[in-house]
Amino acid sequence: MQNNQQRRTKNQLLHPIGIFDSGYGGLTVLKEITEELPGYDFLYFGDNARSPYGTRSFETIYHYTLECVNYLIDQDCHLVVLACNTASAKALRNIQQLDLPIIAPDKKVLGVIRPTTEIIGQHTNSGHVGVLGTTGTVKSESYLLEINKFFPDIKVFQQTCPMWVPLIENGECEGVGAEYFVKKDLQALLAKSPNIDTILLACTHYPLLLPLIKTFLPKNVNVISQGKIVAKSLKHYLERHPEIDQDCSKTGKLVFQTTGSTADFDKQGSVFFGRELFSEHVEIRRVKI
Ligand code: DGL
Repeated sequence: MQNNQQRRTKNQLLHPIGIFDSGYGGLTVLKEITEELPGYDFLYFGDNARSPYGTRSFETIYHYTLECVNYLIDQDCHLVVLACNTASAKALRNIQQLDLPIIAPDKKVLGVIRPTTEIIGQHTNSGHVGVLGTTGTVKSESYLLEINKFFPDIKVFQQTCPMWVPLIENGECEGVGAEYFVKKDLQALLAKSPNIDTILLACTHYPLLLPLIKTFLPKNVNVISQGKIVAKSLKHYLERHPEIDQDCSKTGKLVFQTTGSTADFDKQGSVFFGRELFSEHVEIRRVKI
């Protein structure tokens, strides 16, 4: 039954909530969202053909993300979640402030950084928090700025992990390559402060490396993934905004679309999503900015 539902085409979804990531990472968020909001329709869209985004320039990430948001709005999504830190850090603000008012003033686009930063203070005792992210996310300093807004006393230490997404996308979450880079980047982070007691996985791909990450950390260090946090925040958002909630169709269906290979997406994506899935290949309209 589930598989048949997943095989349905987008056209059978009325107004799904769009969930976007550069590739597979957003599936770790969608997995938790479907548990919080099981009756809703979702259209997951992975721009796998152009992933990873994390090492690309600000302009490119903004441009690609805008094209994907445009696509999801064309698919009748009234609400889109950028389940990607890199896109949230580099493109969300421009899209919300400059683009949406022109292309779709009645639609909403949300990100993953704010929901995470507003609760991070509940997790740390020492007040020293580590943030692991892509080069794009770390360089944007979005986590430093946002955490400082909510918790000015918390000290944030960031570390880029440029090899983690390529390793994960290639299905290499175990083995000497993953061990080498995970250990190296964690050591570099912990060297910045011995008092870090909380580490935020500020990339939606990273939960796939969680078992390995834990092997290199002292027991007192708490590792936070974003999926559940974002899912709860989205639920509260819809409760606070009944006018948006009523625009989201609720037949409990999921559709997965990728700009890349469906065979790869179905195989790799099921690891991120935790169950079998079937995707459709789509091409998106290029836009000039
Ligand atoms: N999953 C995305 C994030 O949360 C990044 C992956 C990429 O580099 O494309 O940042």
